[in-house]
Amino acid sequence: MQELVEYNLVTQAPIIATGLSRSFGTGDNAIKAVDGVDLEVHQGEIFGFLGPNGAGKSTTVRMLTTLLKPSAGTAFVAGYDVVKDADKVRRSIGVALQDAAIDPLMTGRELLTLQAVLYGLSKVAGKNRGEELLERVGLTAAADRRVGTYSGGMRRRLDLALSLVHEPTVLFLDEPTTGLDPMSRLTLWEEVKRLNAGGTTVLLTTQYLEEADQLADRIAIIDHGHIVRQGAPRELKALVGSPTLSISVASSETDEARSILARFGDLRPTSEGTLGVGLARGAEDVAAVIRALDEAGLKVRHLELDEPSLDDVFAEATGYRLEGADAANKPTESEAAPEEKKSRRGRK
Ligand SMILES: Nc1ncnc2c1ncn2[C@@H]1O[C@H](COP(=O)(O)OP(=O)(O)OP(=O)(O)O)[C@@H](O)[C@H]1O
Ligand SMILES: [Mg+2]
Repeated sequence: MQELVEYNLVTQAPIIATGLSRSFGTGDNAIKAVDGVDLEVHQGEIFGFLGPNGAGKSTTVRMLTTLLKPSAGTAFVAGYDVVKDADKVRRSIGVALQDAAIDPLMTGRELLTLQAVLYGLSKVAGKNRGEELLERVGLTAAADRRVGTYSGGMRRRLDLALSLVHEPTVLFLDEPTTGLDPMSRLTLWEEVKRLNAGGTTVLLTTQYLEEADQLADRIAIIDHGHIVRQGAPRELKALVGSPTLSISVASSETDEARSILARFGDLRPTSEGTLGVGLARGAEDVAAVIRALDEAGLKVRHLELDEPSLDDVFAEATGYRLEGADAANKPTESEAAPEEKKSRRGRK
């Protein structure tokens, strides 16, 4: 039996959700924040949970991290049931919540030490771990400053360090880069990649297409509590359709060029003065197109290949575009009482 349990822990995906749902309120006012989410995050991957404001990302994360009970469905994290084995789940995971508030009067070093104590590390081990993490997220110089004076990027890096104190195997980051400037965002991405390269499985939520695209091995797109797409960004983009090749030639050669392009896929509208074709066999046909044009004696003046973007994937799945709907109207810190916030941070 023990063997069976261990076998399951080793072979099971670190995050599995089946039919996971959560409603708020009752009767006519009920909101289905998360509605039948199925997820499987594989060992060692960075999984991106992409969706607009109010899509249900944080609610899903809160259920997976045992902070909120599902209304329906099941979830296993690090091999444990998030409801029945909540303690074991908590010991295996690190969490940086979107709305986690920390005492602005404490210093970074004090907060890390406190976190270490909460996780049961000895004084010496806690201090060492704290110093190591401060170094790692580049906060050593600012360690004795009150966190109230930290910039947004520094706060996010401290959140990350706090979530890593007990060396979790599964890490949840809820919008770790929302509101950060591009430099701070890159720094955080690098740190997430480094952690992941060390074997940590990461689930991060984001509203940024680029973040999902660049950072995540696989993504799920969530909209109105439903997962509408799941897979590797490349696969999802490939499903949307073929890349568009645009070329320009001398106007006297346009007709001939057009008939040659048509051999490689459907002609597509592009900007004025250029011809476009959706390459039916993908980017590998670019060379063949150029050869065909060359053999016909046509001179290509300009050439461009545009892959379908994740925004195209999103638009096809939801009927609207995420691009431009970004950070501007994002709510910031939650209105929760300080006491409640503290207890959330003080998980064991
Ligand atoms: N405690 C709550 N009580 C009532 N409604 C809630 C509660 N928490 C979340 N909701 C609602 O559930 C829906 C999903 O919210 P959630 O916070 O999960 O979205 P999100 O994808 O994290 O959005 P954001 O990008 O803005 O953080 C929203 O309509 C939200 O208003
Ligand atoms: Mg959220």
